[in-house]
Amino acid sequence: MKEKIFISKKNREIVLKKAEAYHSKGWRDGILEVSKEKYFLLVEPEIVYSEKEIENRINKCSDINYHLIVAAENDKNLIGLVHAFRHPAKKLQHIGEFGIWLLKEYRNEGIGKEMILYIEEWGKKYHLEKMCLSVFSCNKNAILLYEKCGYQIVGTNKKHIKIENEYYDLIHMEKFL
Ligand SMILES: CC(C)(COP(=O)(O)OP(=O)(O)OC[C@H]1O[C@@H](n2cnc3c(N)ncnc32)[C@H](O)[C@@H]1OP(=O)(O)O)[C@@H](O)C(=O)NCCC(=O)NCCS
Repeated sequence: MKEKIFISKKNREIVLKKAEAYHSKGWRDGILEVSKEKYFLLVEPEIVYSEKEIENRINKCSDINYHLIVAAENDKNLIGLVHAFRHPAKKLQHIGEFGIWLLKEYRNEGIGKEMILYIEEWGKKYHLEKMCLSVFSCNKNAILLYEKCGYQIVGTNKKHIKIENEYYDLIHMEKFL
């Protein structure tokens, strides 16, 4: 996949490119920040991978037919990430899934939408037929983004997520490419 460069709604130059080993530190620092926000991701701040583990993961996910980890950069700093992957089971190989995050100060300027378009291009190029994701019901902005990108809600696990004694549903969404 070729790099994609665009200007965000706040006039910042954003580069989307395949993640490399040098992104490990930015990845670790970023996911640590986002995990502290509590209401978006399953990962907890205390179990965030080390830089070395992240580097290993980037290397392990290097087969472009199965994985695309996209780093979003501004001024050469990692500001967000999306990991899209083909399901490994033979009967599910036409299906992709993804997870996405952006640092707080880079949200609501159209970057998330561009990142999703980018991984969908990859999906089409590598003959994926459907893209799927799961999102907490309390994550309204993410649900709005996915709907804007054409994803539909196809199922819900009731009270599946428990955060500080409050329950939230886990919502499943999908889009045929
Ligand atoms: C979810 C996330 C990736 C969205 O990325 P983003 O760059 O902020 O989203 P965009 O600016 O591209 O928004 C695209 C569309 O989504 C909707 N949307 C996103 N954020 C919104 C908000 N705060 N209010 C209203 N609509 C919103 C809008 O329809 C928007 O389109 P528009 O600007 O043309 O109206 C980002 O908020 C994030 O990283 N959140 C924390 C981590 C997370 O929740 N990850 C997903 C876990 S499932």
